Amino acid sequence: MERTLSIIKPDGVGKNIIGEVIRRFETNGIKIAAMKMIHLTKPQAEGFYAVHKERPFFGSLTDFMTSGPIVVMVLQGEDVIAKNRKLMGATNFKEAEEGTIRKEFATDIEKNVVHGSDAPETAAFEIGYFFNDLEIQNR
Ligand code: CMP
Repeated sequence: MERTLSIIKPDGVGKNIIGEVIRRFETNGIKIAAMKMIHLTKPQAEGFYAVHKERPFFGSLTDFMTSGPIVVMVLQGEDVIAKNRKLMGATNFKEAEEGTIRKEFATDIEKNVVHGSDAPETAAFEIGYFFNDLEIQNR
């Protein structure tokens, strides 16, 4: 059993597709183990994306991530990191496979609707950034 962090970004929340994203998780055997809606401050967004702080898009990305509320979730299931990444599609929606969340709903490489952890180590950091153990259900 594995866990990963999923974020529905401000563009996804703004497009009213929270339910659509969660439906895709649930119909693909992924359990929601924790969930909340929050509005990040700039320092909170910078802390979350600290690995990207040298990248040219860091300022714009953290502005975007603080532009409105987001939904953060812990997903649980077998091979859930890879499964979630497959459902999301490539970071750049232009390269994403047909039928993926980003292919269908993203409009921009930055405004790409969802985030998902890319490895077990990043999942552990990202889950711990938003949730403590008492807030996560074992499903
Ligand atoms: P995410 O999976 O959340 O990880 C980093 C984010 O940076 C990415 O999705 C995009 O929202 C954003 N981003 C903006 N420009 C780029 C880029 N050129 N390459 C990768 N990510 C980018």
